[in-house]
Amino acid sequence: MQPQIDSRHLTQPHSMIATQLADRGVSIVPNAIPSELGMALWREVTELDDAQFQAAKIGRQRLEQHNRFTRTDSICWIHGTSAPCIAWLAWTESLRQTLNRELFMGLFSFESHYAHYRPGDFYKRHLDAFRGEANRLVSVVLYLNPGWQPDDGGELVLYPRDGEIHEPIKVTPSFGTLVCFLSEEFPHEVLPAKRDRYSIAGWFRVNTSTASRVDPPR
Ligand code: OGA
Ligand code: MN
Repeated sequence: MQPQIDSRHLTQPHSMIATQLADRGVSIVPNAIPSELGMALWREVTELDDAQFQAAKIGRQRLEQHNRFTRTDSICWIHGTSAPCIAWLAWTESLRQTLNRELFMGLFSFESHYAHYRPGDFYKRHLDAFRGEANRLVSVVLYLNPGWQPDDGGELVLYPRDGEIHEPIKVTPSFGTLVCFLSEEFPHEVLPAKRDRYSIAGWFRVNTSTASRVDPPR
């Protein structure tokens, strides 16, 4: 599917993302962030040395496990210690505020990591959150791959949510494309690519801490 731009929102995609999330549960926006910020993030992720990446895991906390049948990418959590990451977190913070203001989502925090898929790496069909566990509500993926060609592969495939019948949505991981979707509703997978594939994956969370159970992000 081609990303769609709504001319009403050309200068500021945050409201368009909110509108698309409300209408379809999915938003796909090309050139979503300022290109200098995208380039700075791309430079940083491609220059990180391998030791800063860890094999990705599935599940949270004590249930966390490596599962090389499910996913084979490597990740590096973003803590906001470099200028590009500080700018990225400022950008996602303003998106969080827009989603809360326009959709009353009550999003409380954001966590994100760089991801590196080597040629052939994949992430099989999965959900980012499970209904009722109320942690991750909105998934965000930003692609950092200048010059991605249609036959390089590595598409994100978003499957229809329960009760919807349509073809899966395939997203090309082109530089600057930002995808947001409701974490509990859309099963998705990452297809293997022919080249190194870089992205940031992040999640807006609601606060599920209680007096007897603290539930911090990561
Ligand atoms: C994830 C994920 C999608 C992508 O990290 O959970 O689904 O296109 N990433 O990188
Ligand atoms: Mn996912």
